[in-house]
Amino acid sequence: MLRAGGLVAFPTETVYGLGADATNPDALRKVFAAKGRPETHPLIVHLANTAVLDDWADDVPDSARALADAFWPGPLTMLLRRGARVSPVATGGRDTVGLRVPAHETALELLHRFGGGVAAPSANRFGGVSPTTAQHVVADLADAVDVVLDGGPAVVGVESTIVDLTRDRPTVLRLGAITAADLGAVLGEEVAVWTDEPAASDEPVADDVVGSAPGTLAAHYSPAATVVLVDHDHVVDYAATAAPHGRVIGVLAPTAIEGLSPEVIELEPVGEPDRYAHLLYARLRQADRLGIDVLLVVPPEGEGIGAAVVDRLRRAAAG
Ligand code: TXA
Ligand code: MG
Repeated sequence: MLRAGGLVAFPTETVYGLGADATNPDALRKVFAAKGRPETHPLIVHLANTAVLDDWADDVPDSARALADAFWPGPLTMLLRRGARVSPVATGGRDTVGLRVPAHETALELLHRFGGGVAAPSANRFGGVSPTTAQHVVADLADAVDVVLDGGPAVVGVESTIVDLTRDRPTVLRLGAITAADLGAVLGEEVAVWTDEPAASDEPVADDVVGSAPGTLAAHYSPAATVVLVDHDHVVDYAATAAPHGRVIGVLAPTAIEGLSPEVIELEPVGEPDRYAHLLYARLRQADRLGIDVLLVVPPEGEGIGAAVVDRLRRAAAG
């Protein structure tokens, strides 16, 4: 199906991807159309192994080889100079390309048998919640996708860390399971994390990755429900204030909340950061299925993958 220019959704350890042949412009245009995504938002190209890195990127620096050795297969995307084989349609016309070898048996088998690069964004409608099961993909994109490979629930649950290696200093553009400190430990140099400070943005970066000014973050990862971030200790009061307006109130938190009134829908607690990340998107989708209007969310501790969860929640709340 990939060779025929079709769309194949497949599992990875982070979220499900919507794949197309990274050298086929017509197939790639179908990916953007299926997602309702602007063609200027670049796609990540997935590879079967590190050995083919130079087939897909030019001027690969030693830092990229070191990170590939340390973290691939795994939830790390590296931005490098786009190689000639990558269709510019995949990169939204940019001269950089995001590359990643996913740590999932089914994905690796698919990539290995296909033998080329598979460009794949998360397999959801643009701006919505990423899919962590095959059922989520079917719910979002059933009509547009030719094949959905079911590999069970994604283990990590949030998208890969993106590190830009085309800048003067390696810079994390999207937080994920692999932290800037993890990358810095391998590289032996400090890795920057892109912030919303104008001074840090010397080059344009896709706004769905990094957001814009604080408080006006691009809405992304958003369920239909309005997401409000609340401290654990304030959930009961906040729910009581919001409920009388005829809205269905839901709560998502690491641990159970005592003292909620019975009409508030408490989703099953999501636990500590690893488990929180694993369950986050399924819970956001569940909130919509239950008709929740306002979802009060208690974020996890912001360390490690917890920081990636907080980042996604801030963007979900920005809508
Ligand atoms: O975990 C993941 O990375 C998942 C799985 C399927 O691999 N993929 C994923 O793709 O999250 P997507 O398209 O939903 O998010 C990739 C992000 C986009 O926001 C895009 O703007 C950014 O990566 N990106 C990709 N290539 C880029 C480039 N050359 N320059 C700047 N940003 C890039
Ligand atoms: Mg996405």
